[in-house]
Amino acid sequence: SQVPFAINEPVRTYEPGSEEVKSLIATYKKMWKEKVEIPMVIGGKEIKTSEKVVINSPQDHQHNLGFYYKGDMSHVDDAINSALAARDKWNNLGWEHRAAIFLKAADLLAGPYRNRLNAATMIAQSKNVHQAEIDAACEFIDFLRFNVEFMTEMYSEQPVSDSGIWNRSEYRPLEGFCFAVTPFNFTAIAGNLPTCMAMMGNVVVWKPSDKQVYSATVIMDALIEAGLPAGVINMIFTDGKETAEKVLSHPDFAGLHFTGSTKVFQNLWKMMGANIHTYKTYPRIVGETGGKDFIMVHPSANVDAVATAMVRGAFEYQGQKCSAASRAYVPQSLWNDVKKVIEAQMKTIKVGSPEDPSNFVNAVIDQNSFEKCKGYIERAEKSNEAKVIIGGKCDDSKGWFVEPTVIEASNPRYESVCEEIFGPILSVYVYEDKDWTATLKLVDETSPYSLTGAIFSQDRYAIDEAYKALENAAGNFYINDKPTGAVVGQQPFGGARASGTNDKAGSKMNLLRWVSVRSIKETF
Ligand code: SER
Repeated sequence: SQVPFAINEPVRTYEPGSEEVKSLIATYKKMWKEKVEIPMVIGGKEIKTSEKVVINSPQDHQHNLGFYYKGDMSHVDDAINSALAARDKWNNLGWEHRAAIFLKAADLLAGPYRNRLNAATMIAQSKNVHQAEIDAACEFIDFLRFNVEFMTEMYSEQPVSDSGIWNRSEYRPLEGFCFAVTPFNFTAIAGNLPTCMAMMGNVVVWKPSDKQVYSATVIMDALIEAGLPAGVINMIFTDGKETAEKVLSHPDFAGLHFTGSTKVFQNLWKMMGANIHTYKTYPRIVGETGGKDFIMVHPSANVDAVATAMVRGAFEYQGQKCSAASRAYVPQSLWNDVKKVIEAQMKTIKVGSPEDPSNFVNAVIDQNSFEKCKGYIERAEKSNEAKVIIGGKCDDSKGWFVEPTVIEASNPRYESVCEEIFGPILSVYVYEDKDWTATLKLVDETSPYSLTGAIFSQDRYAIDEAYKALENAAGNFYINDKPTGAVVGQQPFGGARASGTNDKAGSKMNLLRWVSVRSIKETF
């Protein structure tokens, strides 16, 4: 039997004045006023505690959206025990039933849950209408549908048999429970990490970012309505460090699926190393971490295409995508023209709340992020190795607003060219045309990351040179396109070096990490 063929969820365009946009904004306004109360979900039960944490919106830090119930270490224990209690029944359920639950969840998110999921993402993560749509709705729906298809393909892959022998692969879930730690910046990633492990028959403790609990609760509601049994995914809101210590020292811990900062991932890895004798089985470790994603421009490149990729790649979602273009290398011969087009495009960018769909840039996630961006801008203003050439205004009077900013650095090792900022700041290094080959080397060497990158050129030999010189510099490599916006089923996503374990979200490569295969040979 085959599952329905996966196709990408059509992206709604939310034309100004359309019914689609009116209804989404109406949902936003309604949710903005209702004081939400968000419980944890453990063993299928909503868990409320005495510790209520207020949820604010990045675009209006004084506005109280409601609160979530924070748990303590007893809730982590409960989540682990509920997961383990659900394990046998869940992994003995045929894969068709698991597939059906996640396909139904995808349909619910595409239909009745769509506005609520998008609005929660706009309100609490400060995404504009279009960014919410491509992330929360479409990318998450795509993850669910494509992963179901990949899972069924995987299960049908079997080794060769010979006469008198029958070889089989049995795709078993990991022995124990899995831990999903998810970030604020993509609702789709928050949904994908626990669901793809659960799809493969695993039981999961899921700790979303405390900045993303609003859309997380909508995801959980959809999964429960779709029939996800109690205990399969347990959503907890607890202290990150303490939770990690508890989860990662449990003998039945079997796998970590993480997206977040390089530093946190490395700390978790160390904890797993320290606990290695505790575990019944070696844990699987999948992480997607930082990035310092590049746009490398050859003198033959098309100026308009380069400028558009720089503006969209760097400033969509305020640069808070792990894939965001944050450094660009432009040849001297093109720089004046590229700069003119960027300036013209950036004049049209409006900064403000997502409630007005014409605001392309919204607020950064929180005060820490705001201060971090401000610090890079202020230091560039004072530096003799860099200057702020466009933007640079920061305004925290109402929300955490940072104007899209371009820093031109004369030193390719200047801090903003090499370090991850995770905000709407693009650093440009202008190189002499004759130094094209040497600059490729700089791109590769001046950042520890390897997530996404783009090369712009109309010269096939130059494309080939960059393709080879940068073979380890980006897990997702774009030729004449911006380095953001990977689509599930089209560009499997992830990078190596300090950017992660490169197990490609939205692919069989990722799903294979969550099974432990038994090879069976039977002789007749
Ligand atoms: N998949 C997203 C992108 O490519 C990042 O997680 O932009």
